Amino acid sequence: MEGKAHRRLDEGLERQNGQNISIIVREFKHEDNPEVQKIFYEGMMEMIPDTAFRGLRFHPESLLLYAALTFVCFLITMGWWVVGLAPAVVLCGRYACSRSVIHTYTDLALKGDIEDTEKFYMKTPGYCRWVAVHEDKVVGLVESHQITGGVLELRRMSVDQNFRQCGVGVALAKKLLEFAMTHRFSSVVLGTTAYSHPAHRLYQRLGFRLVGVTNGYFAKGFRASLLEKVFYRVRHHHYKLDLHDNLNKVKH
Ligand SMILES: CC(C)(COP(=O)(O)OP(=O)(O)OC[C@H]1O[C@@H](n2cnc3c(N)ncnc32)[C@H](O)[C@@H]1OP(=O)(O)O)[C@@H](O)C(=O)NCCC(=O)NCCS
Repeated sequence: MEGKAHRRLDEGLERQNGQNISIIVREFKHEDNPEVQKIFYEGMMEMIPDTAFRGLRFHPESLLLYAALTFVCFLITMGWWVVGLAPAVVLCGRYACSRSVIHTYTDLALKGDIEDTEKFYMKTPGYCRWVAVHEDKVVGLVESHQITGGVLELRRMSVDQNFRQCGVGVALAKKLLEFAMTHRFSSVVLGTTAYSHPAHRLYQRLGFRLVGVTNGYFAKGFRASLLEKVFYRVRHHHYKLDLHDNLNKVKH
């Protein structure tokens, strides 16, 4: 079932290459792990060019820093080649540092909670993972994580590239929102460093509001090197959905 998907028709009933396909969202089982790891890994790897290249235009302070560094190097060497090489050095630096930070984060997740799901998720209230399945194939995942008594976090949303824009992301998020309502959470929050349109569109469509942005974000506990601080600079977008105000959006 390869190829670009068409638009979502209805929840649970999707269309791809002109054929109706059905998506079931269910709780994760241990045997889903290889597919879950692959989808999570591929989704994370997409963040590298997004952060390194697309993200650049959202960070004028980084552009200013690169220009200042280029100027200093020019003054030291008095060589115009420095100015000529600067854009290539900046792009390579941003790519290498985004890759290193995102790889480290992905590795930790794959070795930690993604690998050892039972320990991290299934035994603790508020922690759960769901997968979207099409014809016995896992095509997407999402996880919940309790932050405080009334607040649930949505994380690790990722959909197989061949099943994008079919409503899989919406179906996964709705499952998590149903879970949040059943367990009487008052709100669901999430954070994303994505600059590309799909993630923001997905959350806004579900009624999430952008409630804050952290500039220069690093994941908790991450010790960034000086180079990573210079070349990896992202905005962390904080979204929140108050469940009581959005009952209709969640149910329909
Ligand atoms: C973000 C992601 C999960 C969306 O999954 P999806 O199954 O394609 O999303 P859906 O089909 O449910 O679409 C949800 C909304 O987003 C829109 N959307 C999805 N992909 C889009 C794209 N490439 N361009 C424009 N809009 C897009 C859909 O049109 C839909 O809005 P609409 O109903 O108003 O038309 C998926 O693109 C993905 O896995 N990306 C890589 C990992 C990632 O970025 N995860 C999020 C990290 S927080």
